[in-house]
Amino acid sequence: PLPPPFQAPLPIPAVLEPVGDGRYEITQREAVAEILPGLKTPLWTYEGTFPGPTIESRRGRPITVTHRNELPVPTVVHLHGGRTPASSDGYPTDLVLPHGHTASHAMHDPRAVVTTLTRDYTFPLDQRPALLWYHDHRMDFTAPAIWRGLAGLHVVRDDDEDDLGLPAGDRELPLMICDRAFAADGGLAYPALDPALRERPGVHAAYLGGVLGDVILVNGAPWPVHEVDAARYRLRVLNASNARHYELAAVTDDGRPVPLVQIGADQGLLAAPVPHHRLPIAPAERYDVVIDFSQVRPGERVRLINHLGADRTRDVMAFHVTRRAPDDSRVPDVLSTDLPTWRRSEATTVRDFSFRAGHTPHGRGWVIGGLPFDPTRTDVATTLGATEVWRLIADVHHPVHLHLVGFRVLSRGGRPPLPHDAGLKDTVSLRPGEAVEIITRFDGYRGRYLFHCHNAEHEDMGMMANLEIT
Ligand code: C2O
Ligand code: CU
Repeated sequence: PLPPPFQAPLPIPAVLEPVGDGRYEITQREAVAEILPGLKTPLWTYEGTFPGPTIESRRGRPITVTHRNELPVPTVVHLHGGRTPASSDGYPTDLVLPHGHTASHAMHDPRAVVTTLTRDYTFPLDQRPALLWYHDHRMDFTAPAIWRGLAGLHVVRDDDEDDLGLPAGDRELPLMICDRAFAADGGLAYPALDPALRERPGVHAAYLGGVLGDVILVNGAPWPVHEVDAARYRLRVLNASNARHYELAAVTDDGRPVPLVQIGADQGLLAAPVPHHRLPIAPAERYDVVIDFSQVRPGERVRLINHLGADRTRDVMAFHVTRRAPDDSRVPDVLSTDLPTWRRSEATTVRDFSFRAGHTPHGRGWVIGGLPFDPTRTDVATTLGATEVWRLIADVHHPVHLHLVGFRVLSRGGRPPLPHDAGLKDTVSLRPGEAVEIITRFDGYRGRYLFHCHNAEHEDMGMMANLEIT
């Protein structure tokens, strides 16, 4: 029996304390949490919690995070949305081997190009302030590792953003939304072909489309509730689900909609606010929104609901408005003036990629341009500084993510982008049969990067490709 909604308090992940100037340490280890009342759920965690601790950093101030792996399998850490040198980007075969498991088969895996027992990841963070997230990225086994708990938030800030007067402090809430399925004993249920997650990748045939759960977690708690003032709040929303899409809306108990005013996208602030009544959010996308509870009577609740859900997956969480309180926050008409304005005419290359079901060495799976992922093949070779237009086309829903760079959506289905496509993104939701054009500049660092579908099961079952910047 699943717990009733809106009982569990919303957890706020702890902020990770540095161990020195710009230095952090994270131990990846097994832990047990009580997620459903009265049941114990074994997890794989960063520092013992799910979500992992939040890293708070400042634009342009580099940090180093040392990861130590005490889990029973090799891992890889990727900072999603980070502008990161390739050596710290968490390439799927750059393994952190488990301590005490050095004889693991991964040592002898010819695809494992770099293996260590601990690993220093260095992040220059020379990038726009934004909500990033870190998660596992091991080749073939990313989806079950994230499912078991290997995900955490990373917020980049700067003075310009701090000066805008947006809701802050207790009135800024990170919301990591994901779905999970639980077995009767409280364990997470995942239909892996190989429960040890060592040899054989993939999921049972019925789950080729991606794994969905019937419990919606926000910051690791099922359908939580949070007490708020009748004031503006900034919600930093991440869809950390493996495969579930949401269309979020906020409604009072008597059915009145409360607008979600979008102020930022995956890669930071928009130029100007965009109000939404329904906000679609695909796996790995982030939306920075302001919600104003000042029109809601104290004592009332505002529910965050998912229009794409059914029954229990229709509810996400609730806000319980408890009191009137002063509010000196604001949402300026101009949020940022530094968004890239790449023009189609500047692009030196136009590429086409199809994202479709197809054949892989492991059987049925997912392919980009007809090919399943092969770490030894270069799929795209480009040069540092090149501006390119990519035309992406999908058979079914595929949230497409590029490492290293942000991009802008130029068109969707042959039409201008939708309101929620605004700003600088790193993940774009392709809808069934739809073509989406994006434009980007390959700035930052040379090296081998990735682009892939962020439906985590699709990614594990072939839907990833190499991007070589020279
Ligand atoms: Cu969020 Cu390549 O990943
Ligand atoms: Cu996909």
